[in-house]
Amino acid sequence: METRNGVLYFDGCDTVELAEKYGTPLYLVSESMIIRKCNELKECFLNRYSGTRAAYAGKAYLTMSMCKILEREGLCLDVVSGGELYTAIQAGFPAERIEFNGNNKLFEEIEMAVDYGVGRIIIDGTQELPMIESICEKKKKKISILIRINPGVESLTHAHMVTGNTDSKFGIPLEEDVIFPVIKAAIGSNYLNFMGFHFHIGSQIFDLEPYLLAVDAVLNLSKEVRERYGYSIEEINIGGGYAVQYVKEEENKTWDYYLEPVMKKIDTFFKQEGMNHPAVVIEPGRSLVADAGMTLYTVGSVKEIRNIRKYISVDGGMADNIRPALYGAKYDGVIANKADQPRVEKVSICGKCCESGDVLIRDLQTAEAEAGDILAVFKTGAYCYAMANNYNKSRTPAMVLLKDGSAQLIVKRQSYESLTCNEVIPFYPGK
Ligand code: LLP
Repeated sequence: METRNGVLYFDGCDTVELAEKYGTPLYLVSESMIIRKCNELKECFLNRYSGTRAAYAGKAYLTMSMCKILEREGLCLDVVSGGELYTAIQAGFPAERIEFNGNNKLFEEIEMAVDYGVGRIIIDGTQELPMIESICEKKKKKISILIRINPGVESLTHAHMVTGNTDSKFGIPLEEDVIFPVIKAAIGSNYLNFMGFHFHIGSQIFDLEPYLLAVDAVLNLSKEVRERYGYSIEEINIGGGYAVQYVKEEENKTWDYYLEPVMKKIDTFFKQEGMNHPAVVIEPGRSLVADAGMTLYTVGSVKEIRNIRKYISVDGGMADNIRPALYGAKYDGVIANKADQPRVEKVSICGKCCESGDVLIRDLQTAEAEAGDILAVFKTGAYCYAMANNYNKSRTPAMVLLKDGSAQLIVKRQSYESLTCNEVIPFYPGK
């Protein structure tokens, strides 16, 4: 990101020109930035420790072009729905590098995963194992599985993003009569190749402590499994959740901050216990793509509520980025065509949905904003397009992939026709 002649450039591209060419709201994705992040991940984790994998969490952002980047970069992919699985397969992503998560996988989704031959299914619930087994038996296929545990740890993040606490719909509780029958059945199954355990404690987690507690839970369980059944697990998946700095006031955490101590703990444990070191897998979503995204909007109405606040309305909002409305998430931004002008006023950037909570940024310091200006909101690469919706029959924005000054359209703007194409007007006989 840089300013040239007063205009904001992103991955070598003039953002104001992009807004003119493709219209707004417009999602920008920097391929260079994603590749840089992949390289960082290789340096600090994948190439540093042997037997490691990264399965990017597609729920953060998934398009067919993203699948192509991941494939080239040698990453695996974590999917959580038939839709994500379909997207990956449509893009030609190798099925054996796909890992299937989800707390309520449907029968047909599991069938789809078995048919494609995904690399892992991560079992999340006691009823899932017999369901997978029966599908594999019918199709005469064997599939590798992990069991997702609920490590029962609290993590300090927004309540909606906590997933590893005891009162959670995710993971199997570590209770004797709940978890061990599942493990026993997995070990004894002719159709399942039981690889090990998985946990994911939440998202946008700034602390290391909950990871270490969850790792402890998995290590103790692995030891217990070896003692009870003489079975050594081959894989531990520690999920994602690594925090991103959206605004200056937030901390900037590196992958190293979490992964170095976690890997040390795992290494020490397996050495001490004289057990084979399992593969360690991570599932970063947000931390790989958030910085690579930017959203462009056109400023429309400007409303000054005297002595209270100035509202700057843009042509998108909670339909393309629901995170501020849903979690109180904070973003930073700039008027792209006035990027070098002094930020003289404090304004609130609001969307165009019929909802008072549709405020993208509260109290943003900007140059004087007028209708027609292009507003750039930073770090919108994760959970924005992925959570885009059609509220107020808003159309999903177009998306452009940028790389060193060149731009390619990778998602077309949704058409008005597509908003009604699945709707059917009922037929009333006799009218
Ligand atoms: N693995 C599993 C099993 C997950 O459930 C998630 C995210 C991840 C990996 C990736 O987590 P990340 O590295 O992106 O934090 N919509 C929320 C975030 C929900 C995350 C759900 N699970 C948001 O916009 O902040």
